[in-house]
Amino acid sequence: MKFILALDQGTTSSRAMVFDRAGTIRGMAQREFRQFFPQPGWVEQDGNEIWASQVGVAMEAVTRAGLTMADIAAIGITNQRETTLLWDRQTGKPLHNAIVWQDRRTAAACDRLKEAGREPLFRERTGLVLDAYFSGTKLAWLLDNIPGARERAEAGELAFGTVDSWLVWNLTGGRRHLTDVSNASRTLMFDIHRGCWDGELLELLGIPANLLPEVVGSSEVYGETTPGLFAVPVPIAGIAGDQQAALFGQACTRPGMAKNTYGTGCFMLMQTGATAVPSRNNLLTTVAWRIGDRTDYALEGSVFIAGAAVQWLRDGLGIIRSAAEVEPLAASVPDSGGVYLVPAFAGLGAPHWDQYARGTMVGITRGTTAAHIARATLEGIAFQVADLLQAMEDDAGLPLAELRVDGGAAGNDLLMQFQADLLRVPVTRPTVHETTALGAACLAGLAVGYWKDQAEIATHWQLDRTFAPTLPAERAAELRAGWSRALERAKGWAVP
Ligand code: G3P
Repeated sequence: MKFILALDQGTTSSRAMVFDRAGTIRGMAQREFRQFFPQPGWVEQDGNEIWASQVGVAMEAVTRAGLTMADIAAIGITNQRETTLLWDRQTGKPLHNAIVWQDRRTAAACDRLKEAGREPLFRERTGLVLDAYFSGTKLAWLLDNIPGARERAEAGELAFGTVDSWLVWNLTGGRRHLTDVSNASRTLMFDIHRGCWDGELLELLGIPANLLPEVVGSSEVYGETTPGLFAVPVPIAGIAGDQQAALFGQACTRPGMAKNTYGTGCFMLMQTGATAVPSRNNLLTTVAWRIGDRTDYALEGSVFIAGAAVQWLRDGLGIIRSAAEVEPLAASVPDSGGVYLVPAFAGLGAPHWDQYARGTMVGITRGTTAAHIARATLEGIAFQVADLLQAMEDDAGLPLAELRVDGGAAGNDLLMQFQADLLRVPVTRPTVHETTALGAACLAGLAVGYWKDQAEIATHWQLDRTFAPTLPAERAAELRAGWSRALERAKGWAVP
């Protein structure tokens, strides 16, 4: 009996999970790594730590499952998207820390492209908005700020990659430099309609094409792990950005089905089938995956800070000792006592897109306690998701039947109930919350024939619990009106 190993390289930790044929987790390991904040609004990670932690947990997860690498039929990769790495093709060494998706250092560069009237072109070709979130301007920053990098890039000595490329490069001992379409679609350099890098956009960004990885599908055998890395070489057979992988793992394989993942940020994706639907409400159009010749697309709402706000309660404010403590603390008060926390710590993503918004807390009175702040933090996550859902329903032109949820904070019942109360839509949680890793495993398993087809994979999805709205609709509307007022106060704070 064989198993599939999923590598889930997230923003705050590297995780690995071993799945069996029924989609059950047999072994799992996780390791956090360092985050660097060199200036306000800047976020970096060390590429070597990303790799070392990822390969470490891969081996640990297999051992914990009581297996060896010889028991693994294939590896699937899923990753934090947009985070940008630049390395030397000869030595495999990064030239700089990775610039993380949350990093805002290129906000002014985006503004300049907007002022030059380029946004419609980028929007049309890439499905994205001009925001520091995406890789293109981050890569340009690296080329402009590392001495000699631009010349070396032009001479073909350097390689760019998002985290998937970086992992594959290292897993294959530098033999493969590639990225899958879902990751490519987050770079501002990729034409999602033609399915290739776009020369005109590269020119506008000042990126030499020879830096770029080959673009491949999301479910195919790309190569094997380099001899000596593991006891035996293992095929690498699936890649997708973490949010697209979660959409796949949630079995949202029919148009109109949507999921929301509560991770470091919150990402709501709706499957739109083979059609790239342009958004009229400030959402993104993105590639969901490419399997064989067929590309599926999604509408996406990206919220930059969700679980990271709970982390901030723990590490920044110190009012909880572990993330799990937030739920009992928040539940110790009946409501937030009129406090709103807008976690715009890295600006605001969809549907507001404000690079200069910053975190804000309003409504504090003499009676406000840590419990109210904890509750307002959870509610702030749910309010952001409610804004996304509204934009998505407007784009789709029909109400959503249900929202499938996953990710760490989906285990928080208080948050899920509040979410359903705000959305007025049932929130459904599957038994496997780790749908990101499951999705990557499924993409890899499909490629090597471990699972027959998508229908077989869909049988892995089992309902754990449905949260139905119970709060009166008028009260939900009042709360959302308060949120909108708080949001206005967060916008534009860090004036450029
Ligand atoms: O776009 C950023 C996203 O991929 C990060 O995901 O799970 O690390 O919050 P996560």
